[in-house]
Amino acid sequence: MNERLKAGVIGYPIDHSLSPKLHGYWLNRYGIKGTYEAIKSHPDDLKTTINHLKSNGFKGFNVTLPHKETVFTLCDEVSDVAQGIKAVNTVVFRNDGSLWGTNTDAYGFSENLISHSTVDTTGGAVIMGAGGASRAIIVSLKIMGFKRIHIANRTVEKACDLAKELTSQDCTITYGDLSSAEFHLHHCSLLVNTTSLGMAGQPPLTLSMAELPKTAVVTDIVYNPLITPFLSMAQDNGNPIVDGLGMLLYQAVPGFEMWFDYPSPQVDQDLRQHVLKSL
Ligand code: ATR
Repeated sequence: MNERLKAGVIGYPIDHSLSPKLHGYWLNRYGIKGTYEAIKSHPDDLKTTINHLKSNGFKGFNVTLPHKETVFTLCDEVSDVAQGIKAVNTVVFRNDGSLWGTNTDAYGFSENLISHSTVDTTGGAVIMGAGGASRAIIVSLKIMGFKRIHIANRTVEKACDLAKELTSQDCTITYGDLSSAEFHLHHCSLLVNTTSLGMAGQPPLTLSMAELPKTAVVTDIVYNPLITPFLSMAQDNGNPIVDGLGMLLYQAVPGFEMWFDYPSPQVDQDLRQHVLKSL
């Protein structure tokens, strides 16, 4: 077969996306005849864009802001994880032309965490933020086996809605404002920032970590800067930290495997350095 395997990422805007760098690195490293491109699509044009990719032989695509929830509704079938998160970031065109969607953010989060740390899932988890990333991470934590999760968010109603929706028989989810996190730190084994606070150009997320056990792992989904003020505070407190870049790298693995028919592309220092150069 001489045809190039094609995939890409749809977003609006799309210039900031690191996915083309990431997939391009793997395509080159493994000598695969394939392309992965950034595709800008306004929300009004989303269906047309997807149909265009389908008729142009694309194997599938990634989805980024602001399309993840809409693409979830456009898929003919979705994975259980995507169903839980109610958003899709990875789509495959099946042979019959139908769209199968999944969400690899939960996988990316847990793979990054377990490949860099040992997390005690019998402790509690405290999640700062109640947006789309928080939702994916809570689904991931439930799959990992956490039974107690607290969501702390500036807008308490959003934390309340998320807690109600994701609480289940084997996982209790509480919620409160950002300062409520401090009351849950003493029995916490994992502390996660999912807000955009701490991102370059944004104010830092401040929180007293005095009550946090020194064994608790602290992670941040923000990866620019790599060591956010939140992670730096955790380091000063003596806690193990995991930066957010790995989540981005690992979430790309399942899509690459499916579109380019290549098992287990490696997430390693070379890839990290390659992607870091673009930050
Ligand atoms: P994402 O999909 O990346 O999670 P999002 O859905 O826009 O993005 O969620 C952003 C999160 O960052 C939310 O929890 C948001 O808090 P609100 O629900 O109160 O908006 C949080 N966030 C963003 N800017 C913030 C700020 N200046 N202070 C506190 N929280 C902030």
